[in-house]
Amino acid sequence: MDPAHGQLLYEGKAKRIFHTDFDDRVLVEFKNDATAFNALKHQELEDKGRINCQISAHLFELLEAEGIPNHYLSLASECWMVAQRVEIIPLEVVVRNIATGSLCRETPIAEGKKLLPPLLDLYFKDDNLGDPLLTESRLLKLDLLSSKERLEIEKLAFRVNQLLKSFLEKLDLTLVDFKLEFGVNKQGQLLVSDEISPDTCRIWDKREGDNKRRILDKDRFRQDLGGVVDAYGEVLKRIQGVSSKPRNCS
Ligand code: TMP
Ligand code: ASP
Repeated sequence: MDPAHGQLLYEGKAKRIFHTDFDDRVLVEFKNDATAFNALKHQELEDKGRINCQISAHLFELLEAEGIPNHYLSLASECWMVAQRVEIIPLEVVVRNIATGSLCRETPIAEGKKLLPPLLDLYFKDDNLGDPLLTESRLLKLDLLSSKERLEIEKLAFRVNQLLKSFLEKLDLTLVDFKLEFGVNKQGQLLVSDEISPDTCRIWDKREGDNKRRILDKDRFRQDLGGVVDAYGEVLKRIQGVSSKPRNCS
């Protein structure tokens, strides 16, 4: 059942954000919609919203336990979470441990090359512009961040990478790359926001040698490999095997 919520504040491709009775809190509904290539490809995948909501809750709690500030407060139901209201900074912060995806399409860097130290790419979050990769000087011209915020975002993104990478490693999962979004709350605090799920991470199964079968993330949808929800469910199952249930607000 949907939790009691106020007016719709924002609807994105995979989530809806609603007002609550508290000015500084929102309710986030995880949708079953899967999109790729700037929504040119779209499909409803039953149960995806629930799985991504649960995975995100687990991973945000992991971040919190390590003192990494994030917007998550609690689960409100299986597909809904309560989060701090933030102003999203229009940046997609991508950390890559292994070369694949757009990095290999846009450069001669070989598919599967280990990236040590990890590579951090910043993209301007704008669907109409196709989320373009930013150069250092374009980022400065856009004037989206102070240099202190920029440093803080990079530091936090690398810390999230270390934490998630070693957590997933223990579950026989390889964190290939992922995208984070950051927001600023009413108090001016910088918080990891949005979601952390197989929609926004590339995750490979170490127990599977086959290059396609090992994919447990949205690349299954992007590449028409099938078994998208089963793959996401496998990630959730392994996480649930080692961590306690995410807290519930009720
Ligand atoms: P990329 O290789 O396509 O640039 O993707 C890098 C990472 O960012 C990958 O884990 C998928 C994630 N990502 C998103 O979460 N949203 C997006 O719109 C895109 C393009 C990638
Ligand atoms: N999230 C983006 C879209 O919906 C792209 C992607 O994840 O591949 O189009």
